Amino acid sequence: MPDMRAIGFTHNQPIENEQSLFEFFEPRPVPKGHDLLVKIHATSVNPVDTGVRRGTTERLDRPKVIGWDAYGTVTAVGDAVSLFKPGDRVFYAGSFIRPGTDSEYHLVDERIVGPAPKTLTPAEIAAVPLTSLTAWEALFEQLQINFDSPKENAGHTVLIINGAGGVGSMATQLAHLAGLTVIATASRPETTAWTQNHGADYVVNHREDVVAQVHDLGFQTVDYIVELSNLNQHWAEIVALIKPSGHIVSITGSDTPIDLRALKQKRATFAWEWMYTKSLYETPDMTSQHVILTRIQELLDAGKLKSTLNKTLSPINAANLRAAHALVESNRMIGKVIITND
Ligand SMILES: NC(=O)c1ccc[n+]([C@@H]2O[C@H](COP(=O)([O-])OP(=O)(O)OC[C@H]3O[C@@H](n4cnc5c(N)ncnc54)[C@H](OP(=O)(O)O)[C@@H]3O)[C@@H](O)[C@H]2O)c1
Repeated sequence: MPDMRAIGFTHNQPIENEQSLFEFFEPRPVPKGHDLLVKIHATSVNPVDTGVRRGTTERLDRPKVIGWDAYGTVTAVGDAVSLFKPGDRVFYAGSFIRPGTDSEYHLVDERIVGPAPKTLTPAEIAAVPLTSLTAWEALFEQLQINFDSPKENAGHTVLIINGAGGVGSMATQLAHLAGLTVIATASRPETTAWTQNHGADYVVNHREDVVAQVHDLGFQTVDYIVELSNLNQHWAEIVALIKPSGHIVSITGSDTPIDLRALKQKRATFAWEWMYTKSLYETPDMTSQHVILTRIQELLDAGKLKSTLNKTLSPINAANLRAAHALVESNRMIGKVIITND
């Protein structure tokens, strides 16, 4: 097999250091079973990338390739593949336990891949998969809101903590499309404007008293809370604002244990969302990510949903990937940063 270019790291270095992410060559992988071999045209950086890179405590023998968003072309397929064929344009987020998308070619299981939108640019497409899957699963699986019942959802309120980040920009749009009243949080004029442009009905500042601000809007409690920033930091306001029998989802984990007992009197439910669960455990509903991405593609091509692309770097190389990691590490990203060859 011919070699391919890839970008990876062997140990945790500050992102300003050229060794923090560097280019190297490795054999192009061969697809088997349900795998597609995809030529990558565009990828993005998410907080998981910087978290995995910075969380690597030992020096690795071989460079580790990360990256969890892709727009590309299928170039070969495994013998069990039925959903795609060579030449198809696809978009996907991938698996936590396999080499990532920061490479010329990439292997991915067809069951977590969607057909790429036809009306968007490569960068606009690559901005979407990981955040839309996370937002969709959080809202419509873990909170059990029905996306297709906007009339039923009308009058119900969701508080989205971190409205302008990658996931929040998608969650806000999807919740709005589902008919909910959306209160999003943002702390800067530019993040406030961004989240209003993505479907938020109201914006409150997460660096000030969120409970008082939501009360001032006329809501004593909310039906749903989607936590997308720091569960420990926002836990007290979540407990205060959730409606009796309301539903909470968090995607961020917690550094210290949260006190679920605080929800008992309100008998509110709490759920985690992790976008990688289905592919990690190869759950029976793993192919639902194919279904979700197909729906996202349809919504994008119909103009109902918009890409959250905010910054494009080109071409895909180590310097641009380091620049994208630095942006995400700032914790000030608005929408998505993309690295593209097209
Ligand atoms: N479980 C999963 O499957 C999953 C999937 C994707 C992401 N995640 C995790 O979810 C988190 C968000 O990811 P993302 O890609 O959406 O992040 P992101 O794009 O990097 O979020 C950046 C935004 O965070 C906001 N922010 C900063 N501090 C905040 C605070 N204390 N409270 C509320 N918002 C704050 C900032 O808004 P202002 O500038 O207005 O303050 C900024 O615009 C990360 O921890 C990520 O690792 C989990």
